[in-house]
Amino acid sequence: MIFRNSFHFQTMKRILPSASVPQNIFENAFAFCASTCRAQRIDTSHDEHHMARVACMTERLNIASGREIGQDEKDVMILAAFTHDLCDHKYTDVATGLAHIETWLKSQPISDDQRHAVCRIISTMSYSKVKAYGYPTDLGKWRLAYHHTRIADLIDAYDIDRCYQYQSHKHPDMTEVDKWRAVIDLFEHRVLTQKDEFILPVAPYAADIVEPRHTVAQWGIGEFKKLV
Ligand SMILES: [Fe+2]
Repeated sequence: MIFRNSFHFQTMKRILPSASVPQNIFENAFAFCASTCRAQRIDTSHDEHHMARVACMTERLNIASGREIGQDEKDVMILAAFTHDLCDHKYTDVATGLAHIETWLKSQPISDDQRHAVCRIISTMSYSKVKAYGYPTDLGKWRLAYHHTRIADLIDAYDIDRCYQYQSHKHPDMTEVDKWRAVIDLFEHRVLTQKDEFILPVAPYAADIVEPRHTVAQWGIGEFKKLV
């Protein structure tokens, strides 16, 4: 019942006034995600709260798309959102992380096809994978689930403080100035370019969600550049 009383569950209830996603999947996913984050020592920048925000954002994208999206697709998005950073090379061995996730997914009330879709999505959705290999071409009916989970994750990257948290975790011995320079570099070369390269060409209906975040991040990075 961790999720029921959490901030993100309350947020989810507001965001999803008409959704009928089985609550047990949310609660199970949040609990699995939180315990795995502790086991992998995942820091606050990529922990269960980040993954809950991604899960919430997939539903905002679903609504913005104006499309009829099946419950099976929504479940895949939620499960992919709550597991996508649990097989990240930054925190764990990718194959070990993926095997752990797949074992857990087998305990959930989803079809084999959904389980395979979640694993395919989380194996291919990262910024670096897309940059290197492009989008998978074998997604079939799970194409929208792939893009909405991927884009929801990118949208959470507009948070400058979150980027600083990760730099502090990754480089604890770095000076504060160098940490902020790394943040600025990442935003200038990646986060502030992702909108036109990896979001709006695929999901133009995400503009109302993305543009304000882009504008605020662009302003914030400009201000930090004056300081360092
Ligand atoms: Fe993520």
